[in-house]
Amino acid sequence: MSSQEDLILQIQNLKVRFPMKNQSFVHAVNGIDLNLYKGDSLGVVGESGCGKSVTFSGVMRLIESPPAVIEGKIIFNNQDLMKLSPAEMQKIRGKDITMIFQEPMTSLNPVMRIGYQIMETLLVHENISKKAASARALELLELVEIPDAAGRLWSYPHQLSGGLRQRVMIAMALACRPKILLADEPTTALDVTIQAQVLDLLKRLQEETDMSIVMITHDLGVIADVAKRVAVFYAGRIVEKASTREIFKNPLHPYTVGLLNCIPTIETNTPRLQAVEGNIPDAADFPPGCPFHPRCEKATDICHREEPLKTTPSKNHQVACHHI
Ligand SMILES: Nc1ncnc2c1ncn2[C@@H]1O[C@H](COP(=O)(O)OP(=O)(O)OP(=O)(O)O)[C@@H](O)[C@H]1O
Ligand SMILES: [Mg+2]
Repeated sequence: MSSQEDLILQIQNLKVRFPMKNQSFVHAVNGIDLNLYKGDSLGVVGESGCGKSVTFSGVMRLIESPPAVIEGKIIFNNQDLMKLSPAEMQKIRGKDITMIFQEPMTSLNPVMRIGYQIMETLLVHENISKKAASARALELLELVEIPDAAGRLWSYPHQLSGGLRQRVMIAMALACRPKILLADEPTTALDVTIQAQVLDLLKRLQEETDMSIVMITHDLGVIADVAKRVAVFYAGRIVEKASTREIFKNPLHPYTVGLLNCIPTIETNTPRLQAVEGNIPDAADFPPGCPFHPRCEKATDICHREEPLKTTPSKNHQVACHHI
């Protein structure tokens, strides 16, 4: 699973900062290292503002720079995506690496029938006839289990429910059989039953192909369902990384422990509004030392002073905390 030859994407020391009016910066992403393997399913979890979307929008080269300042490497197919021209990146984006978002209308064109939108993706990236593209568009709607796919192929997005629109977006993302699907909170805007159906669909599609999927979410419950590995983000960093089983059985970082304690159970039922005690830090003004120390019960002097390095307490388990 994690052999070098199965390595498909390497994010190396990715940093993204956005300039603000007063000469300072929002430090959104602060040195992310992450590998993705063939057939991988990686869950990315962390509170709002911790840099999840910026990291993967960065991978897709969707962040305008300047003004943003971006450093680091994104290695895919032995090339650094950061160094590609916009035209070269365009060939990879939407074909080999695709992304789906929380709100389908950010990707769907409201005035274009869904069948045409899927066909357009195919015609841009693949050398096929219009007829073949239209047949494939229908196949894709069937693949994502849209009922009466033939009847809906020429609908406009607004004629579909939110859940169906999300399925159309997944169909578009899968059109060119991508190697990597980045799913940024794809189910958060949906109600719970539809959410479960869309997650099941993504899980099945991932298992049936050798596609790798990154599932970005606030919700460790979602991670438990779909991901084999987890990266826990905090303040634009990865504070813990391990297999999903290991994270649930043996969480080491106090922040991960806090997140796990907040998963609603049948007994408590109601999810808490704020996952972990204390305030989410402001990316324009991170505290010195370990960024989690103001919220951490274990914090001691060193945590106020020095940022913890990553350690590997057991195989495939990495954590950045002074108290491990
Ligand atoms: N274009 C931008 N200009 C300035 N700051 C930005 C920009 N985009 C994101 N940020 C800031 O970068 C930080 C990380 O944002 P990001 O969207 O990656 O968070 P996230 O983890 O995806 O949160 P959420 O769970 O709410 O989606 C936040 O402080 C955010 O306000
Ligand atoms: Mg986000």
